[in-house]
Amino acid sequence: MLLEAPVYKELLGAVEIFEVQKVIKLDSETKDVGSFTVTNVPREDIYRILEDIAIVVPMKNEKLQLIDGVLKAIPHQCPIIIVSNSKREGPNLFKQEVDLIKHFYNLTRSRIVVVHQKDPGLAKAFEEVGYTEILDQKGNVRSGKGEGMIVGILLSKVIGAKYVGFVDADNYIPGSVNEYVKDYAAGFLMSESEYAMVRLSWRHKPKVTTKGLYFRKWGRVSEITNRYMNALFGVATNFETSIISTGNAGEHAMTLKLAEIMPFSTGYSIEPFELVYLFETFGRWGKDSHSEVYDEGIEVFQIETLNPHLHEDKGQEHVRDMILSSLGTIYHSEIATESLKNRILKELRLHGLLKEGEEPPKPKVMPPIEGVDVKKWMSILEDEAETLLRFEV
Ligand code: GDD
Ligand code: MG
Repeated sequence: MLLEAPVYKELLGAVEIFEVQKVIKLDSETKDVGSFTVTNVPREDIYRILEDIAIVVPMKNEKLQLIDGVLKAIPHQCPIIIVSNSKREGPNLFKQEVDLIKHFYNLTRSRIVVVHQKDPGLAKAFEEVGYTEILDQKGNVRSGKGEGMIVGILLSKVIGAKYVGFVDADNYIPGSVNEYVKDYAAGFLMSESEYAMVRLSWRHKPKVTTKGLYFRKWGRVSEITNRYMNALFGVATNFETSIISTGNAGEHAMTLKLAEIMPFSTGYSIEPFELVYLFETFGRWGKDSHSEVYDEGIEVFQIETLNPHLHEDKGQEHVRDMILSSLGTIYHSEIATESLKNRILKELRLHGLLKEGEEPPKPKVMPPIEGVDVKKWMSILEDEAETLLRFEV
């Protein structure tokens, strides 16, 4: 793969954010392209590490045709982890997913792990290892994409993956999913730290209009989140920036070493919260006990995909919730100044998302999984879960 070389970056303590790197050629093998402004990550190197990248696919009531395309597009070497929160009655969508996955396995012999987020055995496993922050008042695992991702990260650790990447299940273009995973690999191959994250931004996000397809660059949520995420970075460094373009990147990946030490927040606030957390914690020296992270640094790559991103339209209400919860992570950051907070309140009121005197929601944060005894967690899961399926090669 040829990418724009990571020429420019911003630093905040131990956190390095590289400016967006566009994919220039999806597939390359030559070792030397003879240009300093282009980085070559040869295909052979990408294929060498794919087996170490577990791909987590969180899903909730998505169309089977889309799930099918996504599964078929994930490179064959990557283990797949499916965490589903789909309906189990009237109709049983989860059963349909499992049938599809079994059929897919019979055809491809891919490595796959599946579990349902509401499986009582999963809740029991969390309860017994003391990771109760993921449970609701009734003792079930809470709904939410972020919660599903945490289950996925734990399963990635169980199977010994070095990296974990996320792809949404509602993608209409299977070829783009195939690219995303290779973009993750390219990012890890460029990184020099064991604590690295790769976040994707879209070349385009097409929308259907009366005049046909319109190739939008930014979704509304991303545009707003990025503006305030950059502002947060700016108040922390005293230098305004526009470097962040992946505040909401659902499609992203990280080394397991980084995933293990990060707390995560609930639902759709998970991705912006990751950045807020990194700025707050590793943006200043000595705030966290992992001194090796400060030595190595945390590298955040932002890659602009070649493929457009076309996914399900979940409606206006969903978009409003995402804006609120994304800006909530920034608003409640300890780095945010009063003036930034006021700007956020003004923005949310302008969009009719907040009333006078109200604040955006504070993110519910779940602690890092490094404290979880994964062996014990998995053994309880294996004994108790009704929905755990493990397909091996
Ligand atoms: N396991 C699980 N549990 N999965 C869920 C849940 C849940 O409670 N809720 C949603 N999902 C799955 C969806 O089925 C989909 O595969 C994925 O999570 C993303 O959810 P969408 O509802 O499609 O979100 P979106 O498209 O509006 O937003 C996506 O893109 C944003 C910007 O890149 C998400 O990935 C966001 O997290 C991201 O910020
Ligand atoms: Mg979606």
